[in-house]
Amino acid sequence: MKTYLITGGCGFIGSHFIRYVLENNKSSSILNLDALTYAGNPLNVKNIEKNYPGRYTFIKGDITDETLLKNIFSENEIDHVIHFAAESHVDRSFDDPMQFVKTNIVGTTVLLNTAKEFWQKDEWNSKRFLHISTDEVYGSLSLEEDAKFTENSPLKPRSPYAASKAAADLLAQSYFESFEFPVLITRCSNNFGPYQYPEKLIPLMVLNMKNEKALPIYGNGLNIRDWIYVEDHCKALLEVLEKGQVGEIYNISGEQEYSNITLVNMICEIAASLTNKKKDHFKKYITFIKDRPGHDLRYTMDCSKVQSETGWKPSHNFIENLTSTVQWYLTHNEWVRSCELSLQKWMKSHYAI
Ligand code: NAD
Ligand code: TYD
Repeated sequence: MKTYLITGGCGFIGSHFIRYVLENNKSSSILNLDALTYAGNPLNVKNIEKNYPGRYTFIKGDITDETLLKNIFSENEIDHVIHFAAESHVDRSFDDPMQFVKTNIVGTTVLLNTAKEFWQKDEWNSKRFLHISTDEVYGSLSLEEDAKFTENSPLKPRSPYAASKAAADLLAQSYFESFEFPVLITRCSNNFGPYQYPEKLIPLMVLNMKNEKALPIYGNGLNIRDWIYVEDHCKALLEVLEKGQVGEIYNISGEQEYSNITLVNMICEIAASLTNKKKDHFKKYITFIKDRPGHDLRYTMDCSKVQSETGWKPSHNFIENLTSTVQWYLTHNEWVRSCELSLQKWMKSHYAI
């Protein structure tokens, strides 16, 4: 039996990863440490304890809490740490950068340090500390530029969120360089799928369509993102955990680039078809609003390293996955209601529409 300490397992990607590991690695058990911030939702892990008896434990707590982490490591034989917990929304990082520093930088360091303290050095060859990061640490490409980011591209983060993730990456890497501590880092592109807190583009658009509300697009809508279905990301993470080399960084992307306006138009058409409305029904709600400060134009990564070292490839059925995602947000009313209070507060403070 292998025990995985997952941080941020009540968030979007972490909750998918927990289900994926429990289903695909029958000799695994999970400790999920999550502070349940506005983005952490107990409904994201509903039924996991029941469906996988004896293999799942939830611990409510903060990754910056050294005493708690020491207790967790002293009371459990942890084989691998998979570190998702973070403040993850770029727009919120402009308003409260210090919270991003606390969770993403300090929290990551407390976690690294505690694992290093409790894992005996002679066991390090069988341990893994997988730090989950983002393409945003590389900064922005221009729309015309052909070169993709590789794992060796310089870090040029442009938002407080991206800067806090870059700092965390460097700290994680320093634990490998200084101590040979078994760290691996993955950097992924924009994820989509069920259970994503609806401050992010895709669920926000679907819920606003559902409520016949404005669809706010920053600037001219020509910024490009590379989208990956969250299950593809989870598959890649397990591959990296099992086959990746310690001390290495792995880029992961879905190889599906769309401008925001193209993507929102696609979602409008999918939602119209799923709700039996005219094809262009929701497009009238598209509203161009003041651009995000320092809005990164485009990220795209070369992912040949993860593909050649692990054999993983993204699934490439983008429309199918996008359609099932739109359908999920249109039909999961209990989940949507559970986000409503905090979401309304955010929408009021952030969007003047
Ligand atoms: P999320 O915001 O949905 O979830 C974050 C989770 O971390 C929540 O459950 C929250 O309660 C928890 N958390 C926050 N602060 C905490 C703290 N101090 N202590 C313990 N738990 C805390 O985020 P996500 O979208 O699932 O992203 C997970 C990771 O993947 C993050 O590190 C993010 O930077 C990275 N990432 C995300 C994307 C994406 O598209 N969502 C892309 C690339 C990388
Ligand atoms: P987001 O989902 O916040 O992810 P990220 O900032 O990590 O890429 O945003 C995706 C893209 O959508 C990004 O270019 C910003 C844009 N966007 C809007 O145009 N309007 C919105 O209301 C939001 C939330 C995002």
